[in-house]
Amino acid sequence: MARPLQKDNEAKTTLKDLDLNRLPKHIAIIMDGNGRWARERGFPRTIGHKKGIDAFKRILEFVSSLNIEVLSVYAFSTENWKRPKKEVDTLMELLSSSIKKQLDKINRKNIQIRVMGCIEDLPCEVKKNLKKAIELTKNNKGLIVNIGINYGSRREIVEGVKTVCRRVMQGQFDLETLNENSFKNFLDTKDLRDPDLVIRTGGELRLSNFMLWQSAYSELWFTDVYWPEFDKQDLIRAIYDYQQRERRFGGISIES
Ligand code: FPP
Repeated sequence: MARPLQKDNEAKTTLKDLDLNRLPKHIAIIMDGNGRWARERGFPRTIGHKKGIDAFKRILEFVSSLNIEVLSVYAFSTENWKRPKKEVDTLMELLSSSIKKQLDKINRKNIQIRVMGCIEDLPCEVKKNLKKAIELTKNNKGLIVNIGINYGSRREIVEGVKTVCRRVMQGQFDLETLNENSFKNFLDTKDLRDPDLVIRTGGELRLSNFMLWQSAYSELWFTDVYWPEFDKQDLIRAIYDYQQRERRFGGISIES
């Protein structure tokens, strides 16, 4: 039986409740719960992923209408290869075809597509469509959509360390200049600002190897709502919550 949604019990928070001058500049989302959404309704998990794509389009539409600089999403983790082949194939096909279908619209909206993760290991068609999207939109100056695909934060950090070592050994990098700021450039996110707000749908309370370095001081927001049902209203609630928090970055409150 489908469980009651958290959102049914909540008073409506609307766009008018938000301070549009203090929006998070970078929102990152772990889009979880596609499989459970489908199973609880008697559908195969792949239907959940199809609905997940629709939810992504809805949220992208809304985020691109706000003054937000970056939207990062976790589309496929390095651990997701452990899933049954049929599910992996469907996910890859969905990701590839939706990027292909939406590319003109994305480009017209001045959106820039970026990817975190190892795209070289992806199936040819996915790799081709992603590379085309990155190339076509690379000079766009609007919202940056940063897609985590075949992405795992620990791998990203280890790869960064290996690149530093290689450059040091080749005399191209002075180890003494390595610090938290310069190391950022060795991560998949490079020049992107860190997420201000990390959202996870689907009820689990963990980061699952997503942007571990970058989220050191992000505000975290969790909801039981499954990703296929996550909508504009839920995102407004998350942003509203974020705006009630005091971000101290390890410092102390002004009033203390
Ligand atoms: C997690 O749900 C979701 C995924 C592994 C895939 C998410 C990808 C999308 C929604 C597509 C986004 C599209 C683009 C173009 C970026 P789950 O299968 O882990 O659900 P469960 O936890 O209920 O099993």
